Amino acid sequence: MLFDGLSEKYLKKYASDLFDIEIRNCVTSTNSIMKEKALSGLKEFSVLIAQCQTAGRGRMGRSFHSPKGTGIYMSLLLKPSDGMNPLLITTDAAVSASLAFEKLLGQEVGIKWVNDIYLNGKKVCGILAEKVEDSIILGIGINVLKPKKGFPEDIKNRAGALFDKKKRYLREKVAVEFLNTFLEIYKNPDRQVLLDEYRKRSIMTDKKILILKDGEEEKAHAIGINDDYSLLVKKENGETVNISSGDVSIKI
Ligand code: BTN
Repeated sequence: MLFDGLSEKYLKKYASDLFDIEIRNCVTSTNSIMKEKALSGLKEFSVLIAQCQTAGRGRMGRSFHSPKGTGIYMSLLLKPSDGMNPLLITTDAAVSASLAFEKLLGQEVGIKWVNDIYLNGKKVCGILAEKVEDSIILGIGINVLKPKKGFPEDIKNRAGALFDKKKRYLREKVAVEFLNTFLEIYKNPDRQVLLDEYRKRSIMTDKKILILKDGEEEKAHAIGINDDYSLLVKKENGETVNISSGDVSIKI
């Protein structure tokens, strides 16, 4: 079935046969729907892709702008046998998305700790991994092209798109490249290589940052990414601390 140019045939032909892909028109949130499906026993590697979302969610209770026709809004159901946590799924997905985008763009992208992909200083992709019982729902939202009406006022200075020009099967290619790259990494993760790939793209390293916690802002200097993917920062009082992704947000 074809929804506004998103070809199910293309996706099924080029994505690994391990994936069971379902495409829907507009949904609330692919992650929310996939969570329900996970509870009713759907199998690993089921994928839900929506043409648009009316309640797309990001980290820290934020929304993810998900208009029709220009983005990929996708959730993948994972059942990691080794108790792999959502943080590692998030960082592996960030590396996978980076490798996939770079292959298609021929240009390097950056990772903003912990789950955002940036191109030319703008956010082009966000990742949200959520645990439900023994499953993890990996959600990814990709701005492949700029929304037809432009980005909303509140995000227009920060948000960007991977490509300027529409091309046949462009969104499908982005989705397939991400899925196949992620699958390879998920099945055979080389932890040191993945950490290196993540660090190499970290746009926060050696930057002045603002730590946002419980409505308060604190200035600090980001030193780098620790082995456990926490962020190593130096506060203004000289104290060095490790920040974990769960409870803070960072502004560069
Ligand atoms: C973020 O920016 O903090 C993460 C954004 C994640 C958005 C994707 S779109 C598909 C999936 N469904 C959702 O509701 N969210 C994720």
